Parts: sequence; C-alpha cells; structure tokens
Amino acid sequence: MIRAYRFKTGCQSIDDMLNGGIESGIVTEVFGRAGSGKTNFCIQLAAQALKNNKKVAYIDTEEISIDRVSQIFGDNVQEMLKNLAYYNANSFSNQQQAIGHLDDLLTNDYGIIILDSATALYRLEIIEHTTPEESVQTRRNLLKQLEMLKKLSQKYNIPVVITNQVYDDLKHENNVLPLGGNGTRHSLKASLKFEKEENGIRIATINRHRSLPEGVTCQFKIENSGLISLDDVEIPDEINNTDDDEFRFLT
Ligand SMILES: Nc1ncnc2c1ncn2[C@@H]1O[C@H](COP(=O)(O)OP(=O)(O)OP(=O)(O)O)[C@@H](O)[C@H]1O
Ligand SMILES: [Mg+2]
Repeated sequence: MIRAYRFKTGCQSIDDMLNGGIESGIVTEVFGRAGSGKTNFCIQLAAQALKNNKKVAYIDTEEISIDRVSQIFGDNVQEMLKNLAYYNANSFSNQQQAIGHLDDLLTNDYGIIILDSATALYRLEIIEHTTPEESVQTRRNLLKQLEMLKKLSQKYNIPVVITNQVYDDLKHENNVLPLGGNGTRHSLKASLKFEKEENGIRIATINRHRSLPEGVTCQFKIENSGLISLDDVEIPDEINNTDDDEFRFLT
C-alpha cells in the first residue's frame, strides 16, 4: 500500500488552495496564457524538491532562463543543479523520447517530474502536419506521453507537473481553455489555471481536481525569489467544501 502525499509548492496560498500542495501519484496540469507564471511555478517546484534533498527530472521545451533559475534557487544554486536532471527537447518526437527515457533515469531519490511545456511543440507539430491522419497521430502521441507520465507518477509515487498552452474559449469571453480537450482527462487528475491581472497580480484557480472543488481561487505575485502568496484562499459561495481527506491510500 502506497501513501500518497502532498508536495508543498512553497507558495502558501496555492498550498492552502490545494489542501497542502500538489499530489503525488498523479499528473497535475497548469495552464494559462503566456506570462501567467507557469514556468516560474515549475522552477519553484524544482527548487522545493531540491531543497528537500530530492532529485528532479525536468524536461524543458522553452529554453529555460538560467538567470531565472539562479534567482529562484537562491545562493545554493550550483549545488542544487547537480541534482537536477535537465533535458531540453527541441521537437515533439524528441519530447516523447525524453519521456521514454525517464523510467531508466528515475530512482527513489527523485521527488518530482516536470514537463514545461507539454504542448508547445505539440501545437507546432499540429500546425506543420496538416493532413488529418498526421494530426490524429500527433494527438495520439500527446495522449501516450501523458499516459506514460501518469504511470511514472504512480510507479515512483511522486508528483508530475506539466504545463499546457491555451486557446480562447468561444463560449465565454476572456476565458481560455487548456489544449488537449477531454481526451487528457484520463491522464491529468488535477488541472490548475493561472491568470495574470493587469496589476501584475496572478490568480490560480482549481479548474478540475479529483478531490477538491472546482472554482476555488487564490492569489499570488511573482518576485525575484519566485511565487509569493498574496492572500487566503477564496471559496466561491456556491461551492460547498467536500469532505476531502488529506491522505489517500492506494493499493
Ligand atoms: N525576477 C522577477 N521578478 C518579478 N517578476 C518576474 C521576474 N522574472 C520574471 N518575472 C515575470 O514572470 C512572468 C513570466 O512568467 P512565466 O515565464 O512563468 O510565464 P509562462 O506562463 O511560463 O509563459 P509562457 O506561456 O510564455 O511560457 C513575466 O511577467 C515576468 O515579468
Ligand atoms: Mg513558460
């Protein structure tokens, strides 16, 4: 029997919203427009694991800024980088190879897997491959990758966090939706939306979660050291809190 746990993000408002942090044993998606804070969040999650003497597997498709990593990791950055297994994927098939290699890489020393972004190269591939057959295959590959990550999260009982690109919600003005549609629901058991307000304040919302109510929000800002909590968690009136357990037992 494996005990699932909550991995603290280091941003108090987000941890409170998530009843302690992101869950081990599942894949959590973070989606939002460019600049909403997804990559900052990923770097902060890596820092959290490394500070707890855990290794990190980090697949990047966005040419991460080493300056930003240094700012968020802090003084001990050089030591911390020794435990960060970093892979820069430059095509969607390359991303799939990287995910395929994870099982050989991972040991019980690893605390988290991060994929930032899961869908930037996917989107490029879809644009480039215009025949319906090729698009179907590309989509299948995305679902396959997410399923592989789900299995790894379960096998090693660690959280997996992926970021996702968005498209405009035609039914609701100013809203965005994550790429991938309903097909990803099987693999992604938690989905968070990040938004940037005009004053720089960011809002995180639970879009979907297997054990927490949808629509709960919290606020944070981005500073040199990463994501900073701005408030207590706000629960909309229409939402009644569920009887969520802090821990679950998996068989
Ligand atoms: N040192 C810093 N202090 C404060 N804000 C910063 C700092 N470094 C970066 N930012 C802010 O972080 C934001 C970018 O966030 P981030 O890169 O996490 O976005 P993202 O959601 O990953 O976007 P994309 O979809 O383009 O990858 C910018 O608004 C930038 O001003
Ligand atoms: Mg980013």
